[in-house]
Amino acid sequence: MILGAGAVAAAVLGGYYLEDKLALRSDLMQYRSVKNAMTSLQKAVQEDKVNMYYRFRDHAKATPDRVFLIFEGRSYTFRQLELASNRLAHFLLEQNVKPKDVVCMMEQNHPTFFIAFWGIMKIGAVPALINTNLSEDPLFHCLSIAESPLFLFDPMYEAQVATISDAAQEKGMKLFAYGESTEFDNATASALGPALTPSFLSRYSDQDTDESLIRGIVVGELGMLMYTSGSTGLPKAAIVQHSKIASAGWAGVINTAMTKDDITYCCLPLYHATALFMATHITLAAGAKLVIARKFSASRFWDDVYNNNCTIFFYVGEVCRYLLNRDPHPLERKHKLHTCYGNGMPPELWNKFRDRFGLKFIAEFYGATEGAGGVFNYNRGPKTAGAVGHQGPIVRRFLRPELKIVKIDPLTEEPLRNKKGFCIECNYNEPGELMVELDPPGGRRRFDGYYKNNQATDKKVITDVFKKGDRYFRSGDLLKMNSKGLFYFVDRLGDTFRWHGENVATTEVSQVIAKYPPVAEANVYGVKVPSHDGRAGMVALILHPNKTLDFDDFYKYLSKNLPRYAIPLFVRFVPSMDLTGSLKVQKVAFRNQGIDKIPEDEKPLYWVKNRTYVPFTDDDYARISTGKHKL
Ligand SMILES: *[C@@H]1O[C@H](CO)[C@@H](O)[C@H](O)[C@H]1NC(C)=O
Ligand SMILES: *[C@@H]1O[C@H](CO)[C@@H](O)[C@H](O)[C@H]1NC(C)=O
Ligand SMILES: *[C@@H]1O[C@H](CO)[C@@H](O)[C@H](O)[C@H]1NC(C)=O
Ligand SMILES: *[C@@H]1O[C@H](CO)[C@@H](O)[C@H](O)[C@H]1NC(C)=O
Ligand SMILES: *[C@@H]1O[C@H](CO)[C@@H](O)[C@H](O)[C@H]1NC(C)=O
Repeated sequence: MILGAGAVAAAVLGGYYLEDKLALRSDLMQYRSVKNAMTSLQKAVQEDKVNMYYRFRDHAKATPDRVFLIFEGRSYTFRQLELASNRLAHFLLEQNVKPKDVVCMMEQNHPTFFIAFWGIMKIGAVPALINTNLSEDPLFHCLSIAESPLFLFDPMYEAQVATISDAAQEKGMKLFAYGESTEFDNATASALGPALTPSFLSRYSDQDTDESLIRGIVVGELGMLMYTSGSTGLPKAAIVQHSKIASAGWAGVINTAMTKDDITYCCLPLYHATALFMATHITLAAGAKLVIARKFSASRFWDDVYNNNCTIFFYVGEVCRYLLNRDPHPLERKHKLHTCYGNGMPPELWNKFRDRFGLKFIAEFYGATEGAGGVFNYNRGPKTAGAVGHQGPIVRRFLRPELKIVKIDPLTEEPLRNKKGFCIECNYNEPGELMVELDPPGGRRRFDGYYKNNQATDKKVITDVFKKGDRYFRSGDLLKMNSKGLFYFVDRLGDTFRWHGENVATTEVSQVIAKYPPVAEANVYGVKVPSHDGRAGMVALILHPNKTLDFDDFYKYLSKNLPRYAIPLFVRFVPSMDLTGSLKVQKVAFRNQGIDKIPEDEKPLYWVKNRTYVPFTDDDYARISTGKHKL
């Protein structure tokens, strides 16, 4: 059902909102964003423009001379990008790439990323976006599951590609060097494959390819492959539908209130969803400009944002903490930024971030790359700070309530079932796994899962949740929702651990520790300890420069702010946190180091004793292992 916004507001204005106009605006905004995605998609279906290449093409035809992209001071108009990608597309056609073939690309944040992306798209082929940090088996695995006839790589990744080039060629895959250095004719030929330099590509036409190649796409059809991080195994290729990436843009343009006059700053890797779905496709939907940086740099950030007059920037994970941890920068309040948009801003930082850098809005969203549905919080003050989403009465009443938070058995991490065999919804403020209801096959809200991996796909879908035959997407995340419809992230399932019969949510404990002044970064996880059940809490710490930790005071702080079972039993200091490609802290390597495989140069490890922390010795380890000392 789609109502006019006025009618909707009137319908629920009854009581709740009279005292809370901001919440009403937020609720209406979400309603309008979903409505915009639905009506825009309907229009695309009617016009046979579901292929996501149209999101770029329509601008290139309507406003060819408008600048879309800015990179290191150079501007690129829609027309320039279109012509360059036309040549590449004609080259791909000559290589016999057919519609629906997958073409792997390993490209850095650089205009050549988009030229490759749209060059592949405009002939109806499917780009597979390879994480630029991969080499060896994980890289070969990503190429193999895509069954790609052709692989474009930026020569800067030549050493990584060399580790798999023989194996890839044996499988019949053709390798071509295309990237920053091949924009010049002096590019030295790569030993791994021909370089697509300007003089090489000048043999191909810059005219449009046949539009029939991108016609006839239906809702739900495969648009591209993106890979999961693979932090606990090999990466999986997530199926991304044409309609999904477009809908993210159409919903996001309302959620960010972005207009054609905005200038977006994106320093996140373009092969990830936040950069490509959100930063790029919201900017396209608004007809605005996109500034890209090679990568996130806390030291260059304010100069970049200031020099380019950026108004909105996109963040993930630890980006905002790194900005806050730096000394004041002369431009940090002189910029034109009004909004930041992203996911995973640590809750304890929101108000500090908004106040210190003078931003008006924090637009936080929660949703998985491959998942269906998500939540969103357009935050402008302390009231809703830290919430990853908000679903007020309008959304809950007039859009089908698709999200459920479901009780989980803490030991098995499987949903609990009642006597009738159905799942049990959590109460307000009670953490549980977030699940998203799926439409029957052919519907809009779908989970297509992982490319050629039914087993992994099936694991993410659960059936007979609240009634026979229903289907839900399992997010794998613990969230809680309060009575106002605000959603809070609690932890990733699998990160949460059990200790003395209690559940410890690592994200929540990290947030508490990160507020202790000398601490710059805190990463909490559970480690196996000999002769003990469950996992014992450990925190890896990085302190601010020239700060030391007063262990007595630190312990006092922890006992004031955490339940006893959640106070880390072990403390270690690390030179840096490993980040995933999406700038989230890695726990797996630390977790596997446990209490007995700490690198020599990071010793001593500390442990709790007598309401403080003291060095943990080999003797202590022996007493724990033999069960003489109980934790
Ligand atoms: C090729 O030419 C460009 C532009 O003139 C220059 O920036 C680049 O360093 C040159 N590269 C090589 C490998 O000579
Ligand atoms: C940024 O805006 C100022 C005026 O507010 C203008 O003078 C300057 O040229 C702009 N810079 C860019 C890179 O657009
Ligand atoms: C830390 O201390 C060193 C030497 O004591 C000093 O050179 C440096 O400037 C200090 N750094 C900060 C960030 O205060
Ligand atoms: C990516 O690779 C570089 C060097 O190859 C390494 O220093 C960095 O830690 C890697 N980053 C991630 C997220 O794996
Ligand atoms: C524990 O700490 C207190 C003071 O912090 C000290 O007086 C006491 O002796 C300590 N006990 C042991 C067993 O070390």
